[in-house]
Amino acid sequence: MRLSLALGALMNAFSRGCVVRRVSGVSQAPAQSVIAAKHPFQVDLSANKLYPWCACGYSKKQPFCDGSHKKAAPGLSPLRFTVEEPKTVWLCGCKQSKNPPYCDGTHKEELVQKAELHTCPESTT
Ligand code: FES
Repeated sequence: MRLSLALGALMNAFSRGCVVRRVSGVSQAPAQSVIAAKHPFQVDLSANKLYPWCACGYSKKQPFCDGSHKKAAPGLSPLRFTVEEPKTVWLCGCKQSKNPPYCDGTHKEELVQKAELHTCPESTT
């Protein structure tokens, strides 16, 4: 029964778009991404350059990583990506996109719009 409850909570977190990963150690809580912004960031990207998209939501240099995950969310790491040609893209700021690092419109959903900034949507209920 306990296992099914824990599994249910974990599946609920995934279905809400929260990034949940186990970290080493028994007493440490799983790290979760938080909403950095309720909108995407328009960014001009260069070809073949490695970009670290902030996956935790704690970076002060959104939408890119500034290393904040090391203290704020040690179980998370940035999503590193490149593009093959120069282009302008919209990178996710809410950290709930199902197509990271790109915005997929999830930020428009009530779950994100009604949540507090710097929280995971599941923790606002
Ligand atoms: S900003 Fe996250 S889905 Fe649009």
